[in-house]
Amino acid sequence: MKKIKKVVFPVAGLGTRFLPATKASPKEMLPIVDKPLIQYAAEEAASAGIKELIFIIGRTKNAIIDHFDSAPELENELIDKNKKSLLRLVRKIVPKNIDCFFVRQNKPSGLGHAIHCAKNIIKDEPFAVILADDLIKSKTPCLKQLIDVYYKKKSTVLALEKIEKSETDKYGIVEYHSREDNLFKIKSIIEKPSPKKAKTNLAVVGRYIFTPEIFSKIEKVKPGKGKEIQITDAIDGLMKDEAVHGYIFEGKRFDCGSKLGYLKATVEYALEHDELSKDFINYLKKLKI
Ligand code: G1P
Repeated sequence: MKKIKKVVFPVAGLGTRFLPATKASPKEMLPIVDKPLIQYAAEEAASAGIKELIFIIGRTKNAIIDHFDSAPELENELIDKNKKSLLRLVRKIVPKNIDCFFVRQNKPSGLGHAIHCAKNIIKDEPFAVILADDLIKSKTPCLKQLIDVYYKKKSTVLALEKIEKSETDKYGIVEYHSREDNLFKIKSIIEKPSPKKAKTNLAVVGRYIFTPEIFSKIEKVKPGKGKEIQITDAIDGLMKDEAVHGYIFEGKRFDCGSKLGYLKATVEYALEHDELSKDFINYLKKLKI
């Protein structure tokens, strides 16, 4: 069986929920404490055994390329000033033995279209997708949990979370044929149905493992919700030929594409941060909210 070695990061979206911060800088570069969201995503992929990171970028996303490139001026300055730990921090942004590829999506035409931009690099292999604004804190990296399911089931696997019924219009929502514990065999998927129309409250969140057959399904998809090429519609097509599974992962997700989710992540990561947690807890206590 082919190993999962490649991950796609669709990072071409305009990040309108975070304007004006995202007018000129990518939302994926917003930091949670001291690390940009995209770096958390890259680290999750690396710790799940991924060897190739494929970024699908748009015009305003060059900061992401720079972040994963070497920075000789900065490194020389840190060497001159003998700031060894900072130097190590900068040099380990791209984990060892991992290659980065950058593909330009010429216009934002939806998540399905963005993923399809990676087709010529992925070729005929199963692969992973991470949406970096869904930050997931877990003991076992969420992507690793999905990859383990892929190796058992040899099928496309979607990360699932039970959400409030009132929120179904923000997610792809699935219905299932059968379940064993946290693993579901999926029957249908609909992009952002209203709470009235949604059959369940099981939402797809930003982690996927796909068989390469998804590409031909994306090619058949017509613009759907928001007039975009939706990955949800391609998954629906895929289900007609292959099994698709969903997995409720262990861990806590922060929707860092929303202001409140972003703040929650900032607080929780700061509370666990080696240098900051003590002072931050003292500060919060003094606030007496
Ligand atoms: C995308 C997908 C949606 C999925 C969500 C997870 O929506 O289209 O199916 O549930 O990501 O975060 P977006 O958040 O980009 O609007």
